[in-house]
Amino acid sequence: MSMDGSPNDLSNVVAADKAHVWHHLIQHKPFETTDPRIIVEGKGMRVWDQNGKEHLDGVSGGVWTVNVGYGRERIADAVRDQLVKMNYFAGAAGSIPGSRFAERLIAKMPGMTRVYYSNSGSEANEKGYKMIRQIAHKLYGGKKHKILYRERDYHGTTIGAMASGGHHQRNAQYGPFPAGFVPVPHCLEYRAHEQGLSAGEGYGEAAAQAIEDVILREGPETVGGLILEPVTAGGGVIVPPAGYWQRVQEICTKYDVLLMIDEVVCGIGRTGTWFGYQQFGVQPDIVTMAKGVASGYAAISCTVTTERVFDMFKDDASDPLGYFRDISTFGGCTAGPTAALENMAIIEEEGLLDNCTAMGAHMMEQLHALADKHDVIGDVRGMGLFCGAELVADRDSRTPAAEKMVQAVVADCMQQGTIIGATNRSFEGYNNTLCFSPALISTKDDINAIVASVDEALTRVFA
Ligand SMILES: Cc1ncc(COP(=O)(O)O)c(C=O)c1O
Repeated sequence: MSMDGSPNDLSNVVAADKAHVWHHLIQHKPFETTDPRIIVEGKGMRVWDQNGKEHLDGVSGGVWTVNVGYGRERIADAVRDQLVKMNYFAGAAGSIPGSRFAERLIAKMPGMTRVYYSNSGSEANEKGYKMIRQIAHKLYGGKKHKILYRERDYHGTTIGAMASGGHHQRNAQYGPFPAGFVPVPHCLEYRAHEQGLSAGEGYGEAAAQAIEDVILREGPETVGGLILEPVTAGGGVIVPPAGYWQRVQEICTKYDVLLMIDEVVCGIGRTGTWFGYQQFGVQPDIVTMAKGVASGYAAISCTVTTERVFDMFKDDASDPLGYFRDISTFGGCTAGPTAALENMAIIEEEGLLDNCTAMGAHMMEQLHALADKHDVIGDVRGMGLFCGAELVADRDSRTPAAEKMVQAVVADCMQQGTIIGATNRSFEGYNNTLCFSPALISTKDDINAIVASVDEALTRVFA
């Protein structure tokens, strides 16, 4: 019952939220004098807050998740029907939607064969790490246990995922972290000069070569896995340069290092192909995915492996510790794969991969045009509907724009009713990239409206 009795009055909801909800990733002191934002409804590309204000969502639920847009009744209907039939049983057993979705998913991933269900991107990555670690114990006496990760990549919020996280600021104050995770340099060509490398031809190979250097320094007999985002997301929308992925694959093969690709953001269409790695012709050993798998209609994540990896866990049935001794309670929920099946069907029936490619190209064009107008845009990067604009104080020196200015652009857009994102509190001095990831259903008008808001905001903030 609302406080003033009217059906649209949400002041009691706001009061309860302020009194009891601890929101993610936000300082709460300002909420002593202002109200937190509460999103109450969504339809297509748009969401409405507690005051009835409409927003165009340029980041698919804030964190590149709602790929098919809001208000999809067919997903809700399918989940409802499944829940009344069979909502849950522990994942040691199978389920009808779990089996069907695994089959559909594997059909999109040549070379991969097995799907392990859990609930979040962090958890899916933890499963992959546990597989790599257990393989090290089974085959290499525990020695080949190190897992390499890349600066500027992010793999989640748990202590293990943070140990493999290249966002120093996000990790600060949460250590100590477990041992055995080793960083390799990033591959952001725009900042090659800061790595002592030259941008342009050969940069991709050189950036990948840095991975081999780390393997040789650590000792190849100690390195079991390498985790990479196909296109780095929260680290600043970094599309690896030409030549990079081919060299990475060669290095992994040469040193028998399992290649684990974190598709938590790119997976299920974000770049215009089902998976980001498919843009680069690489063949991974382990792939993780979460956000877009069911577009946020249910919690689901997957750790997908090759049959070769899977087989290593059933080679000796007489060893009581020899199989993958892992469980995720809610990995047995049937809502996730049910929603994921509908989500995938929508993408296919509405041709959303093609739309993503076409609208992504349009967005890149528009962002380049914006860069012609605003000197503060130093670099525009992206693939599909996954774009970034790096803001700089000076184009020649490429000095990053101050984080508070970047946040002011985001806030100005929000004021206009357009939601965009930005790298935040990830790396000291480099939280300067605006991020765009509108739903795969975006039209040209939607993209133009998002870019027009950014144009206005840049004009105001950097006047
Ligand atoms: C690339 C990547 N991996 C993993 C995660 C962690 O996913 P979750 O928040 O579902 O644990 C994220 C979340 O933003 C991500 O961007």
